[in-house]
Order: sequence, then structure tokens, then C-alpha cells
Amino acid sequence: MTDNILVAVAWPYANSEIHVGNLTGSYLPADIFARYHRLKGNHVVMVSGSDSHGTPVTVRADAEGLTPYQVYQRYHQSFIALFQKVGLTYDLFTSTHTANHFKVSQAIFLALNHNGYLYTQSEQQWFSLTQNRFLPDRYVEGTCYLCGYEGARGDQCEGCGSLLEATQLLNPRSKIDGSIPELRETVHFYLDLAKLQPEIVRFLEERQSYWRPNVLRQSLGQIQAENLRGRPITRDLDWGVPVPVEGWEGKCLYVWFEAVIGYLSATIEWAQLRGEAEAWQEWWFNPEARSYYFIGKDNIPFHAIIWPGQLIGSGEWFGKLFANLDGKRLTLPYDVPANEFMNLEGKKISGSRNWAVWGHDFLSRYDPDPLRYYLTANMPETRDTDWDWQDFYQRNNNELVATWGNLANRVLSFAYKHWEGRVPDPGELRAVDQELLEKVRAGFQAVSEQLEAVHLRAALSAAMDLAGEVNKYLELTSPWFEIKSDKAAAAKSIFTALWAIDTLKILLAPFLPFTSEKLHTYLGYAQPLFGEQKTELLTDELGEHRVLLYDSSRASGKWELSRLSPGQPLQQPAPLFQKLEPEIVAAERARLGTPPA
Ligand code: MF3
Ligand code: ZN
Repeated sequence: MTDNILVAVAWPYANSEIHVGNLTGSYLPADIFARYHRLKGNHVVMVSGSDSHGTPVTVRADAEGLTPYQVYQRYHQSFIALFQKVGLTYDLFTSTHTANHFKVSQAIFLALNHNGYLYTQSEQQWFSLTQNRFLPDRYVEGTCYLCGYEGARGDQCEGCGSLLEATQLLNPRSKIDGSIPELRETVHFYLDLAKLQPEIVRFLEERQSYWRPNVLRQSLGQIQAENLRGRPITRDLDWGVPVPVEGWEGKCLYVWFEAVIGYLSATIEWAQLRGEAEAWQEWWFNPEARSYYFIGKDNIPFHAIIWPGQLIGSGEWFGKLFANLDGKRLTLPYDVPANEFMNLEGKKISGSRNWAVWGHDFLSRYDPDPLRYYLTANMPETRDTDWDWQDFYQRNNNELVATWGNLANRVLSFAYKHWEGRVPDPGELRAVDQELLEKVRAGFQAVSEQLEAVHLRAALSAAMDLAGEVNKYLELTSPWFEIKSDKAAAAKSIFTALWAIDTLKILLAPFLPFTSEKLHTYLGYAQPLFGEQKTELLTDELGEHRVLLYDSSRASGKWELSRLSPGQPLQQPAPLFQKLEPEIVAAERARLGTPPA
């Protein structure tokens, strides 16, 4: 049976470059999971895009004297280039700044409003007389009313660390031009989470048997400790999705409210680009479809509480408004396997202090698979982890190169050389060979189970254990010596090892797609395991947006044990990985900035 799997990946803010912490937090686990399900033959759609609106982007634009659109475009291009290099196979990586996303977001808003889950409330906010607009909290500076610190920001004081009530700031100044703002009334829409709470709780309870404890703690646990309250979902800002209500010109949907809607709008855009405009419904109007949201722990409330609330509250009205369909409800998240954080050399990663390992920079010196390997082996699935250059160096040399790369290269070169470039015919296998086959079958099962449960670290480690078993088997059978006295025996050993390596190639393919693909050609297969990534430049009434797409038409990989046959022609192999020099550790540490205190 084929399952429909939605791989929903966190949308990076289009205001800063991507570092290894972001990659291991959500983008890489999503790709591993998507590749696994594609190999299994399931229908996978993996979507995300640039989170391009809101103050994260306008603050950066103001600081650089650019427009928000320019800032968003710059980072968006950079994300796409990086994701291609890392091998992140988004079926669609788009952006929230598209006409389609505006339309879908507004439809969700209207559906919630129609169903009575929105209300309006007025509040006071700082208004800039020089700019004739309301100032977001973080655009106002002044004296902290708690500690007297003079450079406090509207939302938070750096002096005492407290979260502030912006309207109570003393001596307020606009961060943009230093002018003095005044308090004015403004009205906003609120999402009525109190009203949605019973259904949100039911949704969480139905999933608590298999969700990660850290995610449950920050969702169900949080609600049990403190009831939900309404949240404002509009802002006085012009960079974003306009509120689709007359008289609300100049206000936008809150960036978090609309960004999560991107999972839905991107699936709709993906279907349109494929020329099957209705295909998105197989994921979004299908109660059997499973959606997995790959995010970092700071995003948990938005994905495990508020987004389900938005979906529940839209009810059947989104289908009516958007697709003219009756009785359809949007599919709720199946799992939110959020990760914790990765630190760097024992300190929190800080982009502004250059205490970070940047994706582009790393890949200018190293290959993507060692990065993917290290980030998976160290993935913060259950607790914060640490990127340590010494550890990276050792794992590369001792695990990737010594346990796996050398194994594949040694066996393939030997077979290529001694059996005229073909897979040897083993004849009848011995007990020792059968034993390895059995171990690989069991290991195959173990890796599959871990992947199903989104335990990617454990899955990788089980696959590497299997590589260790093959090494042990070769120590035992020693075909390099066998061949001198008994070539038929050596043929049995080499065939068995090749069969194991061919199977390991599949088990490791979601993690190490580039080298698995190479190995696949050395083993003599003509069709690639995976499809290709490509980009396309699209235009709509909001401007241009480049998208990253995954084309699976040539993919042939299958999640199954090797079917290697004797006589299959091999290709001349080359080493899959590079051994690193010990000097890189100090050199890389010297590139880092100053760690945060
Ligand atoms: N841009 C947010 C972040 O980087 C993540 C948003 S996920 C989304 O933390 F779905 F809301 F877009
Ligand atoms: Zn203070």
C-alpha cells in the first residue's frame, strides 16, 4: 500500500544565512525522512520556503538601507543555492511572498472569521509622527521601567533581561529616526485559542502515545499548566499579507500566523506547477495522509498548538472558499518531531558573533556527505548536542572513511581487479556467508523501524554497525589471502560482501545520497537512485520568485535488500570519502569569532 506523506519543513527567515544548527535542527532530518519514504515507494511531498515577511526582515532591511523585498530576495537565492549543495530534495522550496500564498493565507483567515474563531480588540501602541505609522515593539527604544537601563527595546530589556510591555517604556524613541512616538489606539484581530482549546487538547491527546516527550511537554503539558488565551494575529505593518477585510488597509497578518499556512499554500503551488492542480488535496483533504513537521524546539507552540488550532478552526470553510468543495476538513499534523539545539564547541551558536559554522563556507572546503553524516550522528533529537571540530575530524576519519568508505572501496577494487570487472559467481554459499546475510537482513529491519519512528540517529548508527559486521566478516574470511589458494572460496566471500555493501548503500542513501549514488554506479547500475533538483524562475503580480524543485522521473532506488546478480558488470571504483588532516581542527577553530558569554 502506498502512503501519502507530507514532509513539512520549517521556513527559514529570509534575514540571515543558514548554519549547521539550522541544518541539523530541521532541514536535514526532513530530507533524510523524505528520501527514505520515496525509496519505500510512498507518495512524498516535501515543502517549505523562505519566511519572508514581518519585522525579522524589515529590521534587517532598515539596518542595511535596503527594501524588505531586496533583503528577502538575497537570502532566498542563497538558501536555494545551499540546499542544492547539501542535497535537500524539496519537492518545492518557495516563499511566502507569492500571490498564491497571499490568497491561501487570506482564505484561512476568512474561514476562521466565518466560523467565529476571530475577534477584534483595540490596544495602545506607539505611533511615529514623522513616519506616520505604528511602530512594532522592537522598533521602539527607551528606558526600562523595571531597572532603569536606558537602551531597552520595546519588547525586551537587555539590561535586566525582562520581557517588557512596550507601552510602559519611559522616554520612548523611534529606533528608525530617534523621534518621539506617541501612544495611539489600534485595533487587531485575535485568534480565539480559548475557544479552540478543547479541540486542540483532544488533537494532542490522540497523538501522545508516539510524540516526542519534549514536544508534548511544550504543548499538552503547557496547556494543562495554563489555559490558552487569544493571540493577536494582525500587525500594523505593510510588509506582509494584507488583512482581507475592508477598512483594514495598511495592516498585515502576523508573520507567524501566515508562515505556517505556507505548508498548505506550498503544496497547492507544487500541484499547480506539476500541472495537476488538485493533487494537493490527496495530502490536505485526506485523513489517511500523514504529515510530519520538522522544526526546531523554539517553534513547538506554533506547530503543535496554534497551527492545529488554525486548521481546526477553518473547519469545512477553507474547502468551500478555496476549492468549492463541501464537507472537507484540512488534515491535522500527524507528528511534530521537533529537535533540540546544536551548540558549537560548547557555546550557543551566535550568527552575529560569527560563532557559527556556516553552510556555504563549510561546503567551500568539504563535501556534503561528511556534513550530513556528522550532523546526523550528532542530531539533537532528545537533548542539545555540540558541534566539535575535533569530533568532526575523528568521526570523518574513524567512521566514515575507516568503517564504511574503505570497506566499499576495498571490496569493489578487489572484485573489479580479480574477476574482470564483474560480480563473481559464488556458487553455493557457506554457513559463514549465510550468517552475514542473516545479519544484514536483521539490520535492514532495524534501520527501517528506526526511520519509521523518526529516530534518525539510531537508524544511522544501526546501519554503521552493519558496516562493522561486514568488516568483521572480511577479517574472518580474508578473501585477499583466500584468492591465493582457493579462488572459488574468495568468490563466495567477495560476492557476499558485495551483496552486503549493495544493501548498505540503500540503507545509507537517505543519509549519504551523494556517495551512495556514486557507489551505485560503481556497482554497475545505470539508473540513478534518486531524482534531480532544479530551479525555476516564476513571476506573479508580486514580483519574481525562484523555486527549487525535485524531479523524481529518473529515480530508481528501492528500499529493499540487494538483488545483485553474479556477472553484473562493475565500474572502476574510486574512494568515496577523503581522510582529513589533523591540522584542520585548529584551522577551523581559528576561523570562529568570539563565543557568547
Ligand atoms: N522562520 C521561523 C524560524 O526560523 C520558522 C517558521 S516555520 C513556519 O524560526 F512554518 F512558521 F514558517
Ligand atoms: Zn531592564
